[in-house]
Amino acid sequence: MPHFYAHKIDDIAYPAIENGFLVSFIAKNIKYDNDHLVLIKYGDSSFFFTQQNRDDKVLVKYNKHLKYNSLNAIKMALQAYMKLCNADVFFHNLNTKNHKNIASQYLLLPNQESITKLYKQSSNLSIEIGFGSGRHLLDLAQKNKDIVFLGIEIYNPAIAQVLNQIQLLNLKNLYIINADCRILFNILDSHSVDSIYLHFPVPWDKNPQKRVFSREFLKECERILKIGAFLELRSDSVEYFDYAIDISNSFNSFEVESSINSQARIISKYEARWQRQNKDIYEARFVLRNFVESIDNIESNFSFDHLDMQKILDSNDLKILGDSYFLHIKNIYKFNDGYVLFVLFGAFNAPSKIYLLINNNGSVEILGDIIKTKTNIQALQLIKKWSK
Ligand SMILES: C[S@@+](CC[C@H](N)C(=O)[O-])C[C@H]1O[C@@H](n2cnc3c(N)ncnc32)[C@H](O)[C@@H]1O
Repeated sequence: MPHFYAHKIDDIAYPAIENGFLVSFIAKNIKYDNDHLVLIKYGDSSFFFTQQNRDDKVLVKYNKHLKYNSLNAIKMALQAYMKLCNADVFFHNLNTKNHKNIASQYLLLPNQESITKLYKQSSNLSIEIGFGSGRHLLDLAQKNKDIVFLGIEIYNPAIAQVLNQIQLLNLKNLYIINADCRILFNILDSHSVDSIYLHFPVPWDKNPQKRVFSREFLKECERILKIGAFLELRSDSVEYFDYAIDISNSFNSFEVESSINSQARIISKYEARWQRQNKDIYEARFVLRNFVESIDNIESNFSFDHLDMQKILDSNDLKILGDSYFLHIKNIYKFNDGYVLFVLFGAFNAPSKIYLLINNNGSVEILGDIIKTKTNIQALQLIKKWSK
Protein backbone atom coordinates (compact mmCIF):
# COMPACT_ATOMS: atom_id res chain seq x y z
CA MET A 1 0.00 0.00 0.00
CA PRO A 2 1.32 3.45 -0.83
CA HIS A 3 2.63 5.26 2.28
CA PHE A 4 5.31 7.50 3.70
CA TYR A 5 7.04 7.85 7.06
CA ALA A 6 8.14 11.24 8.34
CA HIS A 7 9.94 12.36 11.50
CA LYS A 8 7.42 15.16 11.77
CA ILE A 9 4.72 16.90 9.77
CA ASP A 10 3.20 20.37 10.20
CA ASP A 11 -0.49 21.03 10.89
CA ILE A 12 -2.21 22.55 7.89
CA ALA A 13 -5.30 24.71 7.44
CA TYR A 14 -8.12 22.62 5.98
CA PRO A 15 -9.33 22.52 3.26
CA ALA A 16 -6.15 22.80 1.20
CA ILE A 17 -5.42 22.10 -2.46
CA GLU A 18 -2.23 20.84 -4.04
CA ASN A 19 -1.77 19.56 -7.58
CA GLY A 20 -5.54 19.08 -8.07
CA PHE A 21 -6.01 17.11 -4.83
CA LEU A 22 -8.35 18.67 -2.30
CA VAL A 23 -7.37 17.72 1.26
CA SER A 24 -10.76 18.31 2.95
CA PHE A 25 -10.18 17.61 6.62
CA ILE A 26 -8.40 15.53 9.22
CA ALA A 27 -10.57 13.57 11.67
CA LYS A 28 -9.28 12.07 14.93
CA ASN A 29 -10.33 8.67 16.28
CA ILE A 30 -12.29 9.39 19.48
CA LYS A 31 -10.76 6.34 21.19
CA TYR A 32 -7.19 6.33 19.93
CA ASP A 33 -5.45 9.68 20.00
CA ASN A 34 -2.82 8.79 17.43
CA ASP A 35 -5.19 7.48 14.74
CA HIS A 36 -6.56 9.90 12.10
CA LEU A 37 -8.35 9.90 8.77
CA VAL A 38 -7.50 12.50 6.12
CA LEU A 39 -10.17 12.93 3.42
CA ILE A 40 -8.91 13.53 -0.13
CA LYS A 41 -11.20 14.60 -2.95
CA TYR A 42 -10.05 14.21 -6.52
CA GLY A 43 -12.53 14.86 -9.34
CA ASP A 44 -15.74 13.06 -8.37
CA SER A 45 -13.96 10.56 -6.13
CA SER A 46 -13.05 10.54 -2.47
CA PHE A 47 -10.60 8.43 -0.55
CA PHE A 48 -8.90 8.51 2.83
CA PHE A 49 -5.39 8.42 4.14
CA THR A 50 -4.82 6.94 7.57
CA GLN A 51 -2.39 8.99 9.62
CA GLN A 52 -0.81 7.44 12.70
CA ASN A 53 1.32 9.58 14.94
CA ARG A 54 3.84 7.67 17.00
CA ASP A 55 6.45 9.03 19.46
CA ASP A 56 9.13 9.95 16.99
CA LYS A 57 7.48 9.38 13.62
CA VAL A 58 4.32 9.76 11.58
CA LEU A 59 2.97 7.14 9.17
CA VAL A 60 0.60 8.28 6.42
CA LYS A 61 -0.88 5.56 4.22
CA TYR A 62 -3.65 5.02 1.72
CA ASN A 63 -6.72 3.60 3.45
CA LYS A 64 -7.81 0.62 1.34
CA HIS A 65 -11.41 0.51 2.64
CA LEU A 66 -12.44 3.23 0.17
CA LYS A 67 -11.33 1.85 -3.15
CA TYR A 68 -9.80 4.10 -5.75
CA ASN A 69 -8.73 2.65 -9.10
CA SER A 70 -5.61 4.62 -9.93
CA LEU A 71 -2.56 3.71 -7.89
CA ASN A 72 -0.69 6.54 -9.58
CA ALA A 73 -3.26 9.11 -8.46
CA ILE A 74 -3.10 7.77 -4.88
CA LYS A 75 0.69 8.12 -4.87
CA MET A 76 0.47 11.61 -6.31
CA ALA A 77 -2.11 12.54 -3.65
CA LEU A 78 0.25 11.33 -0.90
CA GLN A 79 3.03 13.38 -2.45
CA ALA A 80 0.73 16.42 -2.52
CA TYR A 81 -0.12 15.90 1.16
CA MET A 82 3.57 15.44 1.96
CA LYS A 83 4.27 18.82 0.39
CA LEU A 84 1.33 20.63 2.04
CA CYS A 85 2.34 19.52 5.52
CA ASN A 86 6.02 20.05 4.92
CA ALA A 87 6.76 16.44 5.88
CA ASP A 88 10.26 15.55 6.95
CA VAL A 89 10.12 12.19 5.09
CA PHE A 90 12.59 9.38 5.77
CA PHE A 91 10.85 6.58 3.82
CA HIS A 92 8.23 6.34 1.07
CA ASN A 93 7.12 3.99 -1.71
CA LEU A 94 5.56 6.66 -3.91
CA ASN A 95 7.48 6.37 -7.16
CA THR A 96 4.87 6.42 -9.88
CA LYS A 97 6.68 5.61 -13.09
CA ASN A 98 6.07 1.84 -13.19
CA HIS A 99 2.41 1.91 -12.33
CA LYS A 100 -0.41 1.78 -14.80
CA ASN A 101 -3.68 3.54 -14.23
CA ILE A 102 -6.15 0.66 -14.21
CA ALA A 103 -9.14 2.76 -15.22
CA SER A 104 -10.65 1.08 -18.31
CA GLN A 105 -14.04 0.91 -19.99
CA TYR A 106 -13.89 -2.82 -19.23
CA LEU A 107 -13.59 -2.25 -15.47
CA LEU A 108 -17.16 -1.87 -14.23
CA LEU A 109 -18.44 -0.62 -10.92
CA PRO A 110 -20.26 -3.16 -8.74
CA ASN A 111 -23.76 -1.83 -9.33
CA GLN A 112 -27.02 -2.57 -11.11
CA GLU A 113 -26.20 -0.29 -14.09
CA SER A 114 -23.09 -2.34 -14.87
CA ILE A 115 -25.03 -5.60 -14.76
CA THR A 116 -27.74 -4.16 -17.03
CA LYS A 117 -25.03 -3.16 -19.50
CA LEU A 118 -23.81 -6.78 -19.64
CA TYR A 119 -27.31 -8.18 -20.18
CA LYS A 120 -27.86 -5.71 -23.03
CA GLN A 121 -24.69 -6.72 -24.86
CA SER A 122 -25.56 -10.43 -25.12
CA SER A 123 -28.16 -12.92 -23.95
CA ASN A 124 -25.29 -15.22 -22.93
CA LEU A 125 -23.37 -14.34 -19.80
CA SER A 126 -20.54 -16.39 -18.34
CA ILE A 127 -18.71 -15.62 -15.09
CA GLU A 128 -15.33 -16.53 -13.64
CA ILE A 129 -14.79 -15.97 -9.94
CA GLY A 130 -11.25 -15.22 -8.71
CA PHE A 131 -9.60 -15.40 -12.15
CA GLY A 132 -6.08 -14.62 -10.81
CA SER A 133 -3.68 -14.42 -13.77
CA GLY A 134 -6.73 -14.63 -16.08
CA ARG A 135 -5.38 -17.40 -18.34
CA HIS A 136 -8.64 -19.36 -18.35
CA LEU A 137 -10.94 -16.33 -18.62
CA LEU A 138 -8.96 -14.67 -21.42
CA ASP A 139 -8.91 -17.92 -23.38
CA LEU A 140 -12.68 -18.35 -23.03
CA ALA A 141 -13.34 -14.76 -24.10
CA GLN A 142 -11.08 -15.08 -27.15
CA LYS A 143 -12.75 -18.29 -28.31
CA ASN A 144 -16.38 -17.30 -27.67
CA LYS A 145 -16.96 -13.82 -29.06
CA ASP A 146 -20.77 -14.14 -28.91
CA ILE A 147 -20.72 -14.63 -25.14
CA VAL A 148 -20.17 -11.82 -22.67
CA PHE A 149 -17.73 -12.73 -19.89
CA LEU A 150 -17.56 -11.19 -16.45
CA GLY A 151 -14.52 -11.72 -14.25
CA ILE A 152 -15.02 -11.05 -10.55
CA GLU A 153 -11.83 -10.59 -8.53
CA ILE A 154 -10.77 -8.87 -5.32
CA TYR A 155 -7.03 -8.62 -6.04
CA ASN A 156 -6.07 -5.36 -7.78
CA PRO A 157 -2.78 -6.49 -9.41
CA ALA A 158 -4.64 -9.41 -11.06
CA ILE A 159 -7.33 -7.00 -12.27
CA ALA A 160 -4.73 -4.59 -13.70
CA GLN A 161 -2.97 -7.45 -15.50
CA VAL A 162 -6.14 -8.78 -17.12
CA LEU A 163 -7.35 -5.28 -18.13
CA ASN A 164 -4.02 -4.85 -19.85
CA GLN A 165 -4.52 -8.14 -21.74
CA ILE A 166 -8.06 -7.14 -22.72
CA GLN A 167 -6.56 -4.08 -24.38
CA LEU A 168 -3.69 -5.96 -26.04
CA LEU A 169 -6.01 -8.67 -27.39
CA ASN A 170 -8.62 -6.07 -28.39
CA LEU A 171 -11.37 -8.02 -26.60
CA LYS A 172 -14.82 -6.47 -26.57
CA ASN A 173 -16.66 -9.18 -24.64
CA LEU A 174 -14.79 -9.35 -21.33
CA TYR A 175 -15.56 -7.11 -18.35
CA ILE A 176 -14.12 -7.05 -14.86
CA ILE A 177 -15.66 -6.10 -11.53
CA ASN A 178 -13.66 -5.66 -8.34
CA ALA A 179 -15.96 -7.17 -5.73
CA ASP A 180 -16.54 -10.12 -3.47
CA CYS A 181 -18.54 -12.51 -5.68
CA ARG A 182 -20.73 -13.53 -2.72
CA ILE A 183 -22.03 -9.99 -2.50
CA LEU A 184 -22.14 -9.21 -6.21
CA PHE A 185 -24.22 -12.30 -7.04
CA ASN A 186 -27.12 -10.80 -5.10
CA ILE A 187 -27.69 -8.14 -7.75
CA LEU A 188 -27.72 -10.50 -10.74
CA ASP A 189 -31.11 -11.30 -12.26
CA SER A 190 -32.67 -14.69 -11.60
CA HIS A 191 -31.88 -17.27 -14.32
CA SER A 192 -29.59 -14.97 -16.28
CA VAL A 193 -26.21 -16.76 -16.24
CA ASP A 194 -24.97 -19.54 -18.56
CA SER A 195 -21.90 -20.69 -16.65
CA ILE A 196 -19.91 -19.89 -13.52
CA TYR A 197 -16.28 -20.97 -13.16
CA LEU A 198 -14.74 -21.25 -9.71
CA HIS A 199 -11.23 -22.54 -10.30
CA PHE A 200 -8.82 -23.13 -7.45
CA PRO A 201 -10.53 -20.97 -4.85
CA VAL A 202 -8.49 -20.36 -1.69
CA PRO A 203 -9.05 -23.73 0.11
CA TRP A 204 -9.32 -22.44 3.72
CA ASP A 205 -9.10 -26.07 4.86
CA LYS A 206 -8.58 -25.00 8.49
CA ASN A 207 -11.32 -22.33 8.28
CA PRO A 208 -14.06 -23.69 5.99
CA GLN A 209 -16.50 -20.91 6.93
CA LYS A 210 -14.26 -18.49 5.00
CA ARG A 211 -14.66 -20.40 1.74
CA VAL A 212 -16.41 -18.80 -1.22
CA PHE A 213 -18.42 -22.01 -1.60
CA SER A 214 -21.13 -22.31 1.02
CA ARG A 215 -24.80 -23.22 1.22
CA GLU A 216 -25.76 -19.55 0.72
CA PHE A 217 -23.41 -19.30 -2.27
CA LEU A 218 -24.90 -22.39 -3.94
CA LYS A 219 -28.40 -21.05 -3.24
CA GLU A 220 -27.50 -17.86 -5.12
CA CYS A 221 -26.03 -19.91 -7.98
CA GLU A 222 -29.28 -21.89 -8.07
CA ARG A 223 -31.17 -18.61 -8.44
CA ILE A 224 -28.98 -16.91 -11.07
CA LEU A 225 -28.15 -19.89 -13.35
CA LYS A 226 -30.35 -20.68 -16.35
CA ILE A 227 -31.78 -24.18 -16.61
CA GLY A 228 -29.07 -26.47 -18.03
CA ALA A 229 -26.40 -23.97 -17.00
CA PHE A 230 -23.60 -24.94 -14.62
CA LEU A 231 -21.21 -23.98 -11.85
CA GLU A 232 -17.77 -25.56 -12.37
CA LEU A 233 -15.44 -26.06 -9.42
CA ARG A 234 -11.83 -27.21 -9.84
CA SER A 235 -9.67 -27.64 -6.77
CA ASP A 236 -6.56 -29.40 -5.53
CA SER A 237 -8.16 -29.67 -2.08
CA VAL A 238 -10.10 -32.89 -1.56
CA GLU A 239 -11.57 -31.32 1.60
CA TYR A 240 -12.99 -28.42 -0.45
CA PHE A 241 -14.31 -30.80 -3.10
CA ASP A 242 -16.03 -33.08 -0.52
CA TYR A 243 -17.44 -30.09 1.31
CA ALA A 244 -18.95 -28.68 -1.91
CA ILE A 245 -20.46 -32.06 -2.86
CA ASP A 246 -21.88 -32.46 0.66
CA ILE A 247 -23.55 -29.07 0.47
CA SER A 248 -24.97 -29.78 -2.99
CA ASN A 249 -26.53 -33.03 -1.71
CA SER A 250 -29.09 -31.02 0.23
CA PHE A 251 -30.27 -29.38 -3.03
CA ASN A 252 -32.47 -31.34 -5.41
CA SER A 253 -32.08 -28.92 -8.28
CA PHE A 254 -28.49 -29.78 -9.25
CA GLU A 255 -27.10 -32.79 -11.08
CA VAL A 256 -23.45 -33.21 -10.12
CA GLU A 257 -20.81 -34.49 -12.55
CA SER A 258 -17.51 -35.09 -10.81
CA SER A 259 -14.10 -36.30 -11.94
CA ILE A 260 -10.47 -36.52 -10.84
CA ASN A 261 -7.60 -35.33 -13.00
CA SER A 262 -9.82 -34.60 -15.98
CA GLN A 263 -8.10 -32.56 -18.69
CA ALA A 264 -8.63 -28.82 -18.23
CA ARG A 265 -9.63 -26.67 -21.21
CA ILE A 266 -6.70 -24.47 -20.36
CA ILE A 267 -4.23 -24.87 -17.50
CA SER A 268 -4.47 -21.96 -15.08
CA LYS A 269 -1.46 -20.68 -13.17
CA TYR A 270 -2.51 -22.48 -9.99
CA GLU A 271 -3.37 -25.71 -11.81
CA ALA A 272 0.10 -25.68 -13.40
CA ARG A 273 1.65 -25.33 -9.94
CA TRP A 274 -0.30 -28.31 -8.51
CA GLN A 275 0.48 -30.42 -11.60
CA ARG A 276 4.21 -29.81 -11.10
CA GLN A 277 3.75 -31.17 -7.57
CA ASN A 278 1.80 -34.20 -8.92
CA LYS A 279 -1.27 -33.28 -6.91
CA ASP A 280 -4.68 -34.66 -7.83
CA ILE A 281 -7.13 -32.16 -9.29
CA TYR A 282 -10.81 -32.54 -8.42
CA GLU A 283 -13.59 -31.19 -10.61
CA ALA A 284 -17.31 -30.92 -9.90
CA ARG A 285 -19.85 -29.51 -12.30
CA PHE A 286 -23.17 -28.55 -10.70
CA VAL A 287 -25.70 -28.48 -13.55
CA LEU A 288 -29.02 -26.83 -12.77
CA ARG A 289 -31.83 -29.17 -13.78
CA ASN A 290 -34.93 -27.64 -12.15
CA PHE A 291 -36.07 -24.11 -11.95
CA VAL A 292 -36.49 -22.96 -8.41
CA GLU A 293 -39.00 -20.39 -7.34
CA SER A 294 -37.86 -17.10 -8.78
CA ILE A 295 -36.84 -14.46 -6.31
CA ASP A 296 -37.55 -10.93 -7.47
CA ASN A 297 -34.59 -8.68 -7.73
CA ILE A 298 -34.19 -6.29 -4.90
CA GLU A 299 -35.45 -2.95 -6.11
CA SER A 300 -35.79 -1.52 -2.66
CA ASN A 301 -33.90 1.65 -2.05
CA PHE A 302 -32.89 3.28 1.14
CA SER A 303 -31.65 6.58 2.38
CA PHE A 304 -30.35 7.68 5.71
CA ASP A 305 -32.35 10.06 7.83
CA HIS A 306 -30.52 12.56 9.92
CA LEU A 307 -28.56 10.72 12.58
CA ASP A 308 -28.29 11.79 16.21
CA MET A 309 -24.56 11.68 16.90
CA GLN A 310 -25.11 12.12 20.64
CA LYS A 311 -27.22 8.94 20.74
CA ILE A 312 -24.42 7.09 18.96
CA LEU A 313 -21.75 8.48 21.30
CA ASP A 314 -23.86 7.56 24.35
CA SER A 315 -24.55 4.05 23.12
CA ASN A 316 -22.87 1.21 25.06
CA ASP A 317 -22.99 -1.20 22.19
CA LEU A 318 -22.40 -0.19 18.60
CA LYS A 319 -23.07 -3.69 17.20
CA ILE A 320 -26.58 -4.76 16.18
CA LEU A 321 -27.37 -8.28 15.07
CA GLY A 322 -30.25 -9.27 12.74
CA ASP A 323 -31.22 -12.86 11.78
CA SER A 324 -28.57 -13.28 9.13
CA TYR A 325 -27.02 -9.82 9.04
CA PHE A 326 -25.39 -7.26 11.28
CA LEU A 327 -24.32 -3.65 11.56
CA HIS A 328 -21.26 -2.52 13.51
CA ILE A 329 -20.00 1.03 13.93
CA LYS A 330 -16.39 0.02 14.35
CA ASN A 331 -14.62 3.38 14.62
CA ILE A 332 -15.70 6.97 15.18
CA TYR A 333 -13.59 9.94 14.13
CA LYS A 334 -14.22 13.61 14.98
CA PHE A 335 -13.46 16.63 12.79
CA ASN A 336 -14.48 20.30 12.97
CA ASP A 337 -17.74 19.96 11.05
CA GLY A 338 -18.88 16.58 12.31
CA TYR A 339 -17.97 12.90 12.60
CA VAL A 340 -16.86 10.05 10.36
CA LEU A 341 -18.15 6.55 11.15
CA PHE A 342 -16.43 3.41 9.87
CA VAL A 343 -19.27 0.91 9.46
CA LEU A 344 -19.15 -2.85 8.84
CA PHE A 345 -22.45 -4.39 7.76
CA GLY A 346 -24.22 -7.06 5.73
CA ALA A 347 -24.16 -10.84 5.79
CA PHE A 348 -22.07 -12.52 8.50
CA ASN A 349 -19.98 -14.43 5.96
CA ALA A 350 -19.49 -11.51 3.53
CA PRO A 351 -19.39 -8.19 5.35
CA SER A 352 -19.20 -4.86 3.50
CA LYS A 353 -17.61 -1.59 4.64
CA ILE A 354 -18.52 2.05 4.22
CA TYR A 355 -17.75 5.37 5.84
CA LEU A 356 -20.57 7.69 6.88
CA LEU A 357 -19.85 11.35 7.16
CA ILE A 358 -22.21 12.88 9.75
CA ASN A 359 -22.30 16.66 9.61
CA ASN A 360 -22.93 18.69 12.77
CA ASN A 361 -26.59 19.14 11.72
CA GLY A 362 -26.97 15.32 11.52
CA SER A 363 -27.10 15.03 7.70
CA VAL A 364 -25.38 11.93 6.35
CA GLU A 365 -23.06 11.49 3.36
CA ILE A 366 -22.09 7.96 2.28
CA LEU A 367 -18.50 7.33 1.23
CA GLY A 368 -18.00 3.99 -0.50
CA ASP A 369 -20.07 1.66 -2.67
CA ILE A 370 -23.09 -0.16 -1.30
CA ILE A 371 -24.10 -3.22 -3.26
CA LYS A 372 -27.85 -3.30 -2.82
CA THR A 373 -28.32 -6.86 -1.66
CA LYS A 374 -31.22 -7.77 0.57
CA THR A 375 -28.98 -8.37 3.59
CA ASN A 376 -27.00 -5.16 2.99
CA ILE A 377 -30.17 -3.11 2.89
CA GLN A 378 -31.66 -4.87 5.93
CA ALA A 379 -28.40 -4.34 7.83
CA LEU A 380 -28.19 -0.64 6.96
CA GLN A 381 -31.80 -0.12 8.06
CA LEU A 382 -30.61 -1.01 11.58
CA ILE A 383 -28.88 2.34 11.76
CA LYS A 384 -32.31 3.98 12.10
CA LYS A 385 -32.02 3.13 15.78
CA TRP A 386 -29.86 6.26 16.02
CA SER A 387 -32.05 8.57 13.89
CA LYS A 388 -32.86 12.08 15.08
C1 LIG B 1 -5.84 -19.45 -5.52
S1 LIG B 1 -6.25 -18.12 -6.60
C2 LIG B 1 -6.74 -18.95 -8.09
C3 LIG B 1 -6.60 -18.07 -9.29
C4 LIG B 1 -7.05 -18.69 -10.63
N1 LIG B 1 -8.44 -19.09 -10.61
C5 LIG B 1 -6.18 -19.85 -11.01
O1 LIG B 1 -6.70 -20.97 -11.09
O2 LIG B 1 -4.97 -19.64 -11.25
C6 LIG B 1 -7.80 -17.56 -5.91
C7 LIG B 1 -8.25 -16.21 -6.47
O3 LIG B 1 -9.55 -15.91 -5.97
C8 LIG B 1 -9.62 -14.53 -5.63
N2 LIG B 1 -10.69 -14.41 -4.63
C9 LIG B 1 -10.67 -14.84 -3.35
N3 LIG B 1 -11.85 -14.61 -2.74
C10 LIG B 1 -12.66 -14.02 -3.66
C11 LIG B 1 -14.00 -13.53 -3.63
N4 LIG B 1 -14.73 -13.62 -2.51
N5 LIG B 1 -14.53 -12.97 -4.76
C12 LIG B 1 -13.76 -12.87 -5.88
N6 LIG B 1 -12.47 -13.33 -5.97
C13 LIG B 1 -11.93 -13.89 -4.88
C14 LIG B 1 -8.23 -14.23 -5.10
O4 LIG B 1 -7.91 -12.85 -5.13
C15 LIG B 1 -7.36 -15.05 -6.05
O5 LIG B 1 -6.99 -14.31 -7.20
